[in-house]
Amino acid sequence: MHDHPFPISRRRLLQAGAVLAASASLPATGLLAATVRDYRLRLAPGEIQLADRPFPKTGVWAVNEQVPGPLLRCRQGETLRVVVENGLVQPTTMHWHGLRIANAMDGVPLLTQPPIMPGQSFTYEFTPPDAGTYWYHPHVNTAEQVGRGLYGVLIVDEPEPPEVDRDVVWVLDDWRLDNAAQIVDDFDNQRDFSRAGRLGNTVTVNSRIADDFRVRSNERVRLRLVNAANARIFTLQFRDLDPWVVAYDGQPVAPMRPYGGVVKIGPAQRVDLIIDMTGAPGTRSQVIDTFSPQAPYRLRDIVYGDQPQRLTPLAAPARLAPNPIAKPDPDAAKEFEVLLDGGDLGDLARAELRGQIAGMAQLVMMGKMWAINGVVGYRMDMPPQFTFRRGESVVLRFRNHSAWPHPMHLHGHHFEVLSHSGEPHQAGLLMDTVLLGPGDQAKVAFVADNPGDWMFHCHILSHAEAGMSAVVRVV
Ligand code: C2O
Ligand code: CU
Repeated sequence: MHDHPFPISRRRLLQAGAVLAASASLPATGLLAATVRDYRLRLAPGEIQLADRPFPKTGVWAVNEQVPGPLLRCRQGETLRVVVENGLVQPTTMHWHGLRIANAMDGVPLLTQPPIMPGQSFTYEFTPPDAGTYWYHPHVNTAEQVGRGLYGVLIVDEPEPPEVDRDVVWVLDDWRLDNAAQIVDDFDNQRDFSRAGRLGNTVTVNSRIADDFRVRSNERVRLRLVNAANARIFTLQFRDLDPWVVAYDGQPVAPMRPYGGVVKIGPAQRVDLIIDMTGAPGTRSQVIDTFSPQAPYRLRDIVYGDQPQRLTPLAAPARLAPNPIAKPDPDAAKEFEVLLDGGDLGDLARAELRGQIAGMAQLVMMGKMWAINGVVGYRMDMPPQFTFRRGESVVLRFRNHSAWPHPMHLHGHHFEVLSHSGEPHQAGLLMDTVLLGPGDQAKVAFVADNPGDWMFHCHILSHAEAGMSAVVRVV
């Protein structure tokens, strides 16, 4: 479903053609005009066949009538220009998750732009500096807008992509459906706010339930996993396959086998795998999600055709070229504490909201139950909790003092994981979202090199709305 990027506009094509034609007769100067790829995304209510017939179609909010929305794609160094039209009955914006782009294009209402009102549109234009797998989603009423299906994938191709037979995207999501296959309209569910977030009862890959993934023996697939769920932490087992992880959150790593044999992927995170399909022709195997170990979920069947792709698997993949991310200097870095607290079964007795200290019961009445360093987030344009000097190295010391997991996301930057008590193999990885399980501690470092006001929040979207968010200012 994700094979065709939107065609670039005819005018652009002609321009690109003209540039190419002109350059053919000139010595190479390296001054080829930057290619601009144009897309138009219309956000509006729609319907998709989520559950199999005889179930009816499911009412969703969709981008260009699709869930996931269209795949946006460019090469590293090319410019994307995306017109986002709001066909919803509420304001929206579009955020380009994981892209280190200019603050004004980050898509956070009030903080970086006015919300896009119903019937209006906004044009985003940016040049992603990093190759890799990213995604886009609105940043207004996010738990509901993402929960109803507004999101899509954005791929920035490497100048020299790795040799694979197929490049495939799996967008993972879960849906809370009633028995008429309609989305349960309880986005204000208190239990979701105070506990694990909005979990679904129906798990999908590219909005399909447990369908077949057809492959050939010894075919090499690049599988880009994107977790678009509000709260579910996917924990995938590939059974008899031995995938290589080649990137986390878009950033290349030396090809490694998944830690503990499972690919764990928190909300908003991406994992790029290279998998050699080593099963025999005519056989099948399964990909299982063991997020609830008592109730493993058959995510997809891998079905081998009769003809092999080749007789023996290819040699181990090479490491992808790194992206131009500044290396922090942990010795010179300023350290900041990030204490995550609140929720059910926690010990947050009081916290600061709008400059006032309030007790937990009072906070809960206002729909708030989470805090970062004892401060409750309440709107996107709140005063910054952290201010960093442009260019300085920063260390964040996370402590999850709550009984629930928190995938913490910083906009506009990638950080290097220095240490992680719950995921020790992550030391050295570059990520934009780090998952902290209950009780986990992690240290991350980055160069605060992207000026502006940036959101810093939990990507369990009900947690973010209920207070686990802050603003980071880089000046
Ligand atoms: Cu994908 Cu502010 O988040
Ligand atoms: Cu959280």
